[in-house]
Order: sequence, then C-alpha cells, then structure tokens
Amino acid sequence: MTKISTKDPYAFNGVPLTKEDSSANTGVLSNVKDTVPKAQKQFYIESYGCQMNFSDSEIVASILSQEGYKLTEKLENANLVLVNTCSIREKAEQTVRKRLELFNGLKRKNKDLKIGVLGCMAERLKHKFLEEEKMVDIVVGPDAYKDLPNLLKEAEAERDAVNVILSKEETYGDIAPVRLATNGVSAFVTITRGCDNMCTFCVVPFTRGRERSRDPKSILEEITQLSQNGYKEITLLGQNVDSYLWYGGGLKKNFSKASPLQQNTAVNFSNLLELVAKAQPHIRIRFSTSNPQDMSIDVIHTMAKYDNICNYIHLPVQSGSNAILNKMNRQHSREEYFELIDNIRKSIPDCGISHDMIAGFPSETEQDHQDTLSLMEYVKYDFGFMFAYSERPGTLAAKKIEDDIPESTKKRRLQEIIDLQRVHSEYRTQQFIGKTVCVLIEKSSKRSNEFWSGRTSQNTVAVFPKEKYKVGDFVDVKIEEVTSATLIGNALGLSSSI
Ligand code: SAH
Ligand code: F3S
Repeated sequence: MTKISTKDPYAFNGVPLTKEDSSANTGVLSNVKDTVPKAQKQFYIESYGCQMNFSDSEIVASILSQEGYKLTEKLENANLVLVNTCSIREKAEQTVRKRLELFNGLKRKNKDLKIGVLGCMAERLKHKFLEEEKMVDIVVGPDAYKDLPNLLKEAEAERDAVNVILSKEETYGDIAPVRLATNGVSAFVTITRGCDNMCTFCVVPFTRGRERSRDPKSILEEITQLSQNGYKEITLLGQNVDSYLWYGGGLKKNFSKASPLQQNTAVNFSNLLELVAKAQPHIRIRFSTSNPQDMSIDVIHTMAKYDNICNYIHLPVQSGSNAILNKMNRQHSREEYFELIDNIRKSIPDCGISHDMIAGFPSETEQDHQDTLSLMEYVKYDFGFMFAYSERPGTLAAKKIEDDIPESTKKRRLQEIIDLQRVHSEYRTQQFIGKTVCVLIEKSSKRSNEFWSGRTSQNTVAVFPKEKYKVGDFVDVKIEEVTSATLIGNALGLSSSI
C-alpha cells in the first residue's frame, strides 16, 4: 500500500497501543498505580490495519482491565501478548506472521506467556492458528471479545481457546473503551460494525460479519463522556458509516421486517450526525468511511449546516472504469460518482475529499486504468490511499475472476496513480496559501519541537510556531507556505469558529 496522505487509516505499521501509566482520561485504568504487584497479570497489545482495529483494541483493553489485567508497553513484562490483526491484503497478514514468530521466540524463554490473536486474521484462519501453525494460545474474532476472560481461563488450563463466532447484535455499546495511545484530544467512536456490501475484492464482510448499527443513546453517552474528559474531536467509525440505521434494533438486513412505527422513527446517518453536532457544539466531528453508494444528499446538507462537522469526506472509489466498478460489485457508476462529487462541492465548496484506489484489479485493461486517472483528474483529491490488487482467499473475485494482471503491470499502474495524486495533493495544499484555517492542536510537530501540529477541518496537517498555545486548542492559523502534505503558517489567535 502506498499513501499520500496526512493520516493513514490503513497504516500498516504496528503500533503498540499501550500506555504504561494511564492518564486521567482512560477511565477504568485511571486508578491503577504505577507500581504493579509482581503477581498482577500484565498484557501487551499491538494493533494493525484499519482504525476500527485500533478502536477495538480499546474495547479489549477495557474488558481485560475489568479482569484485573494491567496494560504494559514493555513486551518483556507481559504475561499476555495480543495482536489485533488485519487480513485486507496478503502483505498485512505476512507482517502479522513475522510478529507472531517473534512473540513465539519470547515464549521459549517465558513458558507462562500466552499469545492471543484477535481481529480479522483470527476470524479468517480460525482453528488453523492452533492446529497448523501452533503459534498462538488464544484466537478471538472481532465479535467475541467479551468471551476473552473465559478464553484466558481455557488457555491457562492448556485447552483450546478459540471463539470466532460472528454476531448479529454485538456492538460493544455497553463497554466504555480504555483510550490507548491517546493524545487526549481526538478519539474514535464506533457506530456500526460489519459490512453487507460484498465488494468482490474485499474480505471484510467475511471477517467482520453482517452490518449492524449501535444504539444512538450509547453513542451519545460515549461522546458526552469524551467531552467531559476534555476531548475535542471525535471520529464516528464504521466500515460503511453512511449506512448507519437504528430502528430499535440495528441489524441492517432486518430493517424491512421492522414495524411501520419503527421504520418511520428510525435514525439514519444524517440524523445521527445532527444529533451529535447539536449535543456537542464544541466538539469537532469527523466520520469514516463513506461508501459512495450509501452517501445521501441529506448527509451533505447536514455537514453544510453544522460548523462543528468537519468539511472532509473519505470517499473510496477503487476504480474510474465502469466495467471494473461493475466487476467489483460497487453499486454506482463513474457518472454517479461525479454527480456525488458535484453535489458535495455545491453544498460544501471547500470540502476535503480523499480516496482509496486499487490498481490492477483482475481483467483491468490499459483503458480502464486511464479511466481511473481521468476520474482522479476530475476530482483532484486532497489525498488518497492507493493499493495494488491483492487476491484474498474466499472472496468472490478470488473464486470467479483470474488474478491475471502481472505484478509488474500492477506496480506500474499504481505508481502512475501515486504520481498523479502527488500533483493533485500539491494543487490542493497550494489553495490554502494566504488563507486562515482553524487548526486543532494535537501534538508537537515531528520536524521541530518548536512547532505544533494539528489538522484543519479538511483533515490536512498544519504546523505553526507554538507560542502560548497548547494541545487541544482550536487556533486560527494563516498559511504562509505548503508542501504536498502539510500547511505551514502562523497563529493569529484562538479560533472562535467552534
Ligand atoms: N469500507 C472500509 C473499507 C475497508 S478496506 C473502510 O472502513 O474503509 C480499505 C481499503 O483497502 C479499500 O477501500 C480498498 O481500497 C483496499 N482493499 C480492500 N481489499 C483489497 C484487496 N483485496 N486488494 C487491494 N486493496 C484492497
Ligand atoms: Fe469492503 Fe466494500 Fe464493505 S470495500 S468493507 S465490502 S464497502
């Protein structure tokens, strides 16, 4: 995968999502002292893949802390090592296997160490992890985290500890996540789980199950809690957020069976956005990911109506060719996508838009590839996440269409897509020169400790001299110069726009 982006939601870099001494914002763990009694169990957790996995690790941390486990960021202190895994591309799985080999090395030195694999790879490979690979003690799919305490006991007793049952209801709405690796400013809030879209290349519907939405009441409660703990920005998360639907139940496929009253009073994504925006006028709201076919005009209007909803949409398209879109089972055409883009630009002229693109889907011709480049030319995305097609076992594409594009062709097309995106990213950042933007400060800039780093409403990174400002401030910043990914400017004062 290659990105030209400010923030990579699919970044495949293992980040130990741990915090040795949890801050006051971490809820359940906040009263745990630094000194851990020798006997106390400690767990270490690493997350790979999409934002949802990072968010799920916060659920897992909450469940384990209730069981008396303490988080550690020191691998050597852990009695339990967990890896939250990703199956989206083959390379993602290879990286996880390498980590598992390393953890198994530790096990040879520490016989009591238990290793657990969580997430999409656990779901995809199931018992194989125990039977063939013998690399792990515990295997838990994305819907079975509440069973972790039982599975840990099974593993202690040297029995198989596998739960990969997918649920039609589980949303973990009743669990207060323990915020991991947090900057105390921005947090993820899961609103839907699973995906019913069945894009032919995608393993997600198989590893994360049916699409279900979470009760808006518990979403609002979580956000209120975050606000009380000082958070300034939330990202509503789901594989397909625009398809959010709560009608007293949340299972998407059962909506048609709901009573007329339930159907008429259902809360859709636009309604949810409005509820959150109104309830928390001083919190900035983002959401991800939007599937073009599910994004309604109402969502765009709601975004335009509320200043605290960020002007940014991640709108993966995957290909610019109608033939390929059709083979991918994407439920829209190139022309319909343009219409959606036009509607967004009409209502929110300065909206940041990013994409996901796949190069070299089976049967992709040179003309199909040119269609992708011309679609990009039309939209001129702010940034994007770009991938070479990777066949995933069990998907419809793997079963029905031969992976017939040579790796070298995939690579070359991917590079052309990346090069064009770089041109567009630069074009987009240049539009900011001389403008004043509202930036939420997140952390010190990587380039210089004298500068703050934060993001604009459009999700573009902006850096500026620290002066008197602090993390969590909304600051008006006048942009003086830019690179293709970063805006550089000076603070004018605290922002009053939020
Ligand atoms: N709707 C989801 C999509 C998850 S997959 C979300 O929350 O973002 C993220 C991206 O990975 C997809 O948009 C697609 O561009 C890419 N992807 C998925 N399966 C792939 C495959 N088999 N090969 C290459 N890229 C893939
Ligand atoms: Fe995957 Fe398509 Fe859903 S990319 S997550 S099946 S919208």
